[in-house]
Amino acid sequence: MNSDNHWNTLSTLFDTTSDESNISSLVADNIFIAWPEMLQFINAYGPLEKNVRLLEFGCGSGSFAYKLSKLGYTVTGVDYAEEMIKIAKTAYDTHIDFLSGDSSILSRLSPFSIVTSVMTFQFIENIDSCFNDIANVLEKDGIFVFAVHNPAMVQTYLKARILFEDFDSIEKPSKGILNLRGNRIPIFIRTAEEYNQLLQAKGFEPLLEVYPPFTEEFLTKYPMDAPTHQPEFLILGYKKTQ
Ligand SMILES: C[S@@+](CC[C@H](N)C(=O)[O-])C[C@H]1O[C@@H](n2cnc3c(N)ncnc32)[C@H](O)[C@@H]1O
Repeated sequence: MNSDNHWNTLSTLFDTTSDESNISSLVADNIFIAWPEMLQFINAYGPLEKNVRLLEFGCGSGSFAYKLSKLGYTVTGVDYAEEMIKIAKTAYDTHIDFLSGDSSILSRLSPFSIVTSVMTFQFIENIDSCFNDIANVLEKDGIFVFAVHNPAMVQTYLKARILFEDFDSIEKPSKGILNLRGNRIPIFIRTAEEYNQLLQAKGFEPLLEVYPPFTEEFLTKYPMDAPTHQPEFLILGYKKTQ
């Protein structure tokens, strides 16, 4: 097992496979704020037929992969934390293909029509190489949608000394540490413009840039002792045109 992988240690905290009452606010926000925007994008721009191949990259404990498979997609979930994949495999049906590995394993897989990813790319330093692997496994006219941290939210948290530390800059944070319960995880914050630039160079057309706010309903259910005026997510959507 990859023992220097913090996400193995954090797999219990990020286990979203049990009922809602057991899910921490750290991950409930993905489900209630990020997922709906991503699903809306897939509905608007994805292929009309449902049984197409979909890659959920950085799938964690597999809940979004499961949601997508329930919607009719043929889903492969990839995550490099073996403990996350173990939880996903135990919780969900065998017809979702859960694989542990990073983007280098994608070249072994058949092409996909859709790639999704929730709060994963900011943990990958060599994002250019990861995006090459994703571009190579996504069909032409395929769609790509992902959620990452909103840089403005990171800036706010840095000023309040919450979760993020040891950054290169507070005004324009790009590289630092996310401290999750003592796990110091290197994190790489990029703006929408930076992601667009990287992906346009690989033949992706930008179609979506949204920063969905925390909702009253969410904050009532999951009170947060951190600033919530800045949206947590930056969600970007693309079509591969070449
Ligand atoms: C914040 S968690 C999000 C998990 C899941 N997407 C969710 O919404 O609950 C980040 C995930 O990215 C995965 N990850 C980080 N770097 C990765 C890489 N290079 N390749 C694949 N997965 C990676 C971690 O193992 C972890 O499961």
